[in-house]
Amino acid sequence: MSTIEQQEPDETETETETETAVESPGDRRRREKADRAVEDEARRETEEAADEFDEAVDLKVFRYDPEVQGKEEPRFDDFTVPFHRGMTVLDALIYSRDHYDSSLTFRHSCRQAVCGSDALFINGRQRLACKTQIADLDGDTIRVEPLPHQEVVKDLVVDMEHFYEQMHAVEPYFDADELPDDEMEEQRQSRENREKIKMSTRCIWCGACMSSCNIAAGDNEYLGPAAINKAYRFAMDEREGENRKQERLRIVEQEHGVWRCQTQFSCTEVCPKDIPLTEHIQELKRESVKNNLKFW
Ligand code: FES
Repeated sequence: MSTIEQQEPDETETETETETAVESPGDRRRREKADRAVEDEARRETEEAADEFDEAVDLKVFRYDPEVQGKEEPRFDDFTVPFHRGMTVLDALIYSRDHYDSSLTFRHSCRQAVCGSDALFINGRQRLACKTQIADLDGDTIRVEPLPHQEVVKDLVVDMEHFYEQMHAVEPYFDADELPDDEMEEQRQSRENREKIKMSTRCIWCGACMSSCNIAAGDNEYLGPAAINKAYRFAMDEREGENRKQERLRIVEQEHGVWRCQTQFSCTEVCPKDIPLTEHIQELKRESVKNNLKFW
């Protein structure tokens, strides 16, 4: 004969029900929010894990080390790197260095397109490695080389000394004709003037423009787009004054200055900060002509 057993109430359930019953609306919202955060985190980790293990990217990286026997000849090394969404070329290089070859050498610092230290020749074009999304590149293999037209020191590191010399040749600092007597006094700039020089102030000295310029490749003394842009930035700044502007124009008018530019726009195309470099060079040419026109 079957009997229906009287089930004893579960103590745990009873306690939970009691707790739920006394949970305030505020506590409930907080609990639900915490639960959602845990669920979101778990989902994100699952997605990332899937991304990491499902896909990989192949890198072909330029290698050269003149100081190590057997590595003096330039060559390319291949690295296969797990891919995840949002991965940049710099991330892939760091992975390759950390997991395959700790001697792989390249520059980087800020990782947010500010310091300008990781300009490289990626898939045949000058780009910042930290700003270049792997997902945006075409082809199965990503080819990474040092900046062309620069002397290679090791692997992806080039000698930037000449580039810095050209930059310093245009005196890249604010230097007004007159300063206010009170050094705490503001030197005001009109909104229009600020707008005019705005883009030129964005330069991060990465050297991508110089590396892309055919003229700079053939004329080592050419000031180059970055230096001329820097000259533009100060020559057009109304706060410096007319005398200083004339001095700045004399620097860029020289034989290896603005007149060497053949308006090829390669510098403008590769600039990672979208500075209209060629336009700035052309404007300095116009200023130079106006400056030298004489009416008798
Ligand atoms: Fe600084 Fe790329 S690491 S610009």
